[in-house]
Amino acid sequence: MSPANTNPIALGSESLSVDHLLGIKDLTRADIDLIFRTADGFKEVLGRPIKKVPSLRDITIANLFFESSTRTRVSFELAEKRLSADVVNFSSSGSSVSKGETLIDTVNNILAMKVDMVVMRHPDPGAAMFLARHARARILNAGDGTHEHPTQALLDAYSIREKLGRVKGVKVLIVGDVLHSRVALSNIFCLQKLGSEVMLCGPRTLMPRHIRALGVRFEDDLDKALGWCDVANMLRIQLERQGGDGIASFPSLREYAMLYGLNLSRYRRIGKDVVVMHPGPINRGVEVSSEVADHANSIILDQVENGVAIRMAVLYLLAARIPRTAV
Ligand code: CP
Repeated sequence: MSPANTNPIALGSESLSVDHLLGIKDLTRADIDLIFRTADGFKEVLGRPIKKVPSLRDITIANLFFESSTRTRVSFELAEKRLSADVVNFSSSGSSVSKGETLIDTVNNILAMKVDMVVMRHPDPGAAMFLARHARARILNAGDGTHEHPTQALLDAYSIREKLGRVKGVKVLIVGDVLHSRVALSNIFCLQKLGSEVMLCGPRTLMPRHIRALGVRFEDDLDKALGWCDVANMLRIQLERQGGDGIASFPSLREYAMLYGLNLSRYRRIGKDVVVMHPGPINRGVEVSSEVADHANSIILDQVENGVAIRMAVLYLLAARIPRTAV
């Protein structure tokens, strides 16, 4: 495999500083800039009548999803196919995981079939890092529990740059269930590396205890927070992560929507064109109303579209770091 020789994207000798994409925390500012420049090239490819390039044509990628996903899973698979990789999909339901097979045994069996790269979503924080230590393949974290979701943060920051022309100095508000959100943590790391100001807003019961250590502002009044920001990223309420006892961290979804939901009348009261984002899947009428989700200032579908170019860029750049064996 020789991406540099077969791809229309010219990168010269630049490469990422990491062998795996486990989290934004591990990336440098230069890595993120390189990913964005590479994604710009792939975005141009995706606008062509023939949207496919041969860059990864002798690379095999396994998509391992141990937790449900729509956007990330489809986006990674499409990115891989646009790069001409061979793709194998695995989901834990219907697999031998239900017979008690461990994560490392499952993955080693898949790698024995000569897989070069693994994209993995897993409910446990640290699962991607564990795999990177024990498996001989490039690992891409597609979301590990409440820890990180690096490609989501990259596509979010890339979409802000596309809409506003810059990320540096942009005031980004992240609203809602920060405590259970890997999207929030990766976004905070990514936006701070790119020079944005970040504010969190939501019920204090949905904020992490170490909030001060994150170096972000906090405001519990959504109307005040919206007046401060240029961009509002409305997080999904993660009901499935609210605790095994079924007790939620707030009294009711109705009350949450009243205090922290973005509906049209609240949006109009801001009096400026705040850009609206949501990582999906949306609980319409809870985090955002349908009028706001579908508003001209909402870039929710641009985020999804940009996800393919960002994931192509990350796959391409990591594939370039696979050691060559002499033939
Ligand atoms: N944003 C996101 O991760 O969505 P999915 O869970 O559908 O992949």
